[in-house]
Amino acid sequence: MQLVKDLEQWQRLRSELDKALGFVPTMGALHEGHLSLLRRSVAENELTVLSIFVNATQFNNQADLQSYPTSIEDDLKLAQSVGVDLVLMPDYVQMYPDNFRFQMHEEIFSQDLCGSDRSGHFTGVLTVVLKLLNLVQPEKAYFGLKDYQQYLLIKDMCAGLFLPTQIIGCETLRENDGLAMSSRNRRLDGVARDVAGSFNGILYHSNSDEDAISALQALGCNVAYIKTLYGRRFGAVEIESQGDTVRLIDNLVPENLK
Ligand code: PAF
Repeated sequence: MQLVKDLEQWQRLRSELDKALGFVPTMGALHEGHLSLLRRSVAENELTVLSIFVNATQFNNQADLQSYPTSIEDDLKLAQSVGVDLVLMPDYVQMYPDNFRFQMHEEIFSQDLCGSDRSGHFTGVLTVVLKLLNLVQPEKAYFGLKDYQQYLLIKDMCAGLFLPTQIIGCETLRENDGLAMSSRNRRLDGVARDVAGSFNGILYHSNSDEDAISALQALGCNVAYIKTLYGRRFGAVEIESQGDTVRLIDNLVPENLK
């Protein structure tokens, strides 16, 4: 496995590769969910590229950025164990030589759900994903469906901009109690972890978005939104844990729409 931090070196290396690449972009703090994307990419492509880049431009809240978990050494070991070939790990100056002067903005769906209370979040996501796809030029790129809105926006961006990469959505991996796997879960302590474990069940069993909101508020969650769209129920909550606020998102087809 080769680790590349310098983008000039990466671009030289990429121009010499004539193999079909699978790509899994991440912000690190790898968990089983990421590993399942990487395993699928390794199975379906000649070479797999993992990127690890905590993208500051998609955080509208500095505290959230500062407390975003990092575990580079473990990430590299895990990546190697599943057969990743190349790891791209640039820093902010490398990724944003324009200092975010050029931005990829979507006007409609990015303003809803997570975009409604995280101003500019999807502009940061789409801008960095566009940069990464330009750098890696993968045949296939893999995204978890926990971030369903992100997946749809990236898929539509690629179609709208005629990018050749196939965007593949992969099922959400869950803990035993149904909590969607997320790097942020490691910031949850005992009680907060129990509350987080009820989130998906409430999304699933509630007969309406309003019922889900009431049930989550009764558990002490701050509900950012619960909304049923396109036959799926989407939700985001904030849970207090260890003096910290942890934001969790999830989406599923609720029981009453099956
Ligand atoms: O889903 C993520 O981890 C990030 O939003 C992504 C796609 C790596 C862009 O920074």
